[in-house]
Amino acid sequence: MIALADAEWLNPLIGLLQEGQLLLLRSLAWLGLAGSSHGQPAWPWASRLSGENLLIDLGQARRLALSLVVVALALLSLMAALAWKRRRWLFVAAVPLLLVLAPWPDSGVVLVPASPTSFHRSPTGFGAEAIGRGRALYAQHCVGCHGVDGRGQGTLAAALPVWPPNLSGPLLWRRADGDILWRVLHGTQDRHGASTMPAFGGLSDADAWALIDFMKAQGAGQSLRANGVWSQPIGLPRAMVRCAGREPRPLSAWQGQRLRIVTTGPDSGWLEDPRMVTMQLRPSSGEATQDAADCVIDSPAAWEAFALIAGTDSLAGTQLLADRDGWLRARSAPGAAGWSEDDLLCRTAPAPGTVPAAGPSADGLGALVVRMDAEPVRFLKGGFIH
Ligand code: HEC
Repeated sequence: MIALADAEWLNPLIGLLQEGQLLLLRSLAWLGLAGSSHGQPAWPWASRLSGENLLIDLGQARRLALSLVVVALALLSLMAALAWKRRRWLFVAAVPLLLVLAPWPDSGVVLVPASPTSFHRSPTGFGAEAIGRGRALYAQHCVGCHGVDGRGQGTLAAALPVWPPNLSGPLLWRRADGDILWRVLHGTQDRHGASTMPAFGGLSDADAWALIDFMKAQGAGQSLRANGVWSQPIGLPRAMVRCAGREPRPLSAWQGQRLRIVTTGPDSGWLEDPRMVTMQLRPSSGEATQDAADCVIDSPAAWEAFALIAGTDSLAGTQLLADRDGWLRARSAPGAAGWSEDDLLCRTAPAPGTVPAAGPSADGLGALVVRMDAEPVRFLKGGFIH
């Protein structure tokens, strides 16, 4: 997770770059000037502005931000020249001067190679069903090289010219989803054009998106197993929720509220809590029994997806907390007596000016909730606010 406390301006800058490029692509598509690739408008150029590199190279990001300000000034100068006849030459002369003096960033850092699908958005929404489908496809096509746990130690790995990367590290979060899609479907090459990973052109687009969902869910679980935290933020998988007597609704309908996912019935001791909406997750579908909470997620796919993300084979007894933005933030292991701040597994630096003030009398869950709210996830992935 990236703490941006030092660089509050970076978030909007990267957002601006991303939105600007998306707007350009949409306009081209609207004018009929962009082709199509894998079901969405294709990015027509071989490069794009890179959000991910700016995250790493703050100096270049600063130069880019200043250059954009200077370009804006040059445009203003041009407009002034049009409006103000008497001083026109002054404003006209200022334009090239400004452009020469702008602290242009290094194009090698700001521009990165793009694929036609660089700006594609995943149609699956991190759905539990897609994660399950991705799991089966991964076992079939990818496990030989990337390994059961995605760490790149499959049985074929040692014989490859390039070692497969660790898919549970930051890699998948740093890349734009569309670029991952392209690499899975079209393979990867080294600098000399030699193939490093084969293309999986036989997969459908939906299959490739499902694989990406699975790899992220698995990566989150592996990170929890290996480091005890979710090193990269992970969202709630999409699933349907049934609340007493109402039509099923998607989990995303609760966006804006804190959610607690429990894997046992209320008879096992937990109480509804006014600070959050409690949902009971059950491994099989069927009519609600007596020990069900008011709101129930009962799909085998959702159970599997949550188990994968929680990095456990036996999910029963686990509780998970999601924040108001839909990020999974905390877990309480089976048999734990209660919540404490240590259960916060996805941490960021507190937003400037917000001091967590739980107070000594607050209970463990209260302290956790205060910290969760004071430290929202502010994370950028390939320029997308993830
Ligand atoms: C023959 C071995 C092999 C198989 C099979 C394989 N991979 Fe890879 N994969 C690699 C290697 C090697 C790399 C590193 C390529 C490089 O960095 O040039 C890689 C890289 C990747 C990356 C990272 C790409 C990036 O952006 O850097 C992803 C994601 C990935 N593989 C997913 C998959 C998926 C999904 C499958 C199954 C559909 C799969 N791989 C099957 C060997 C394999």
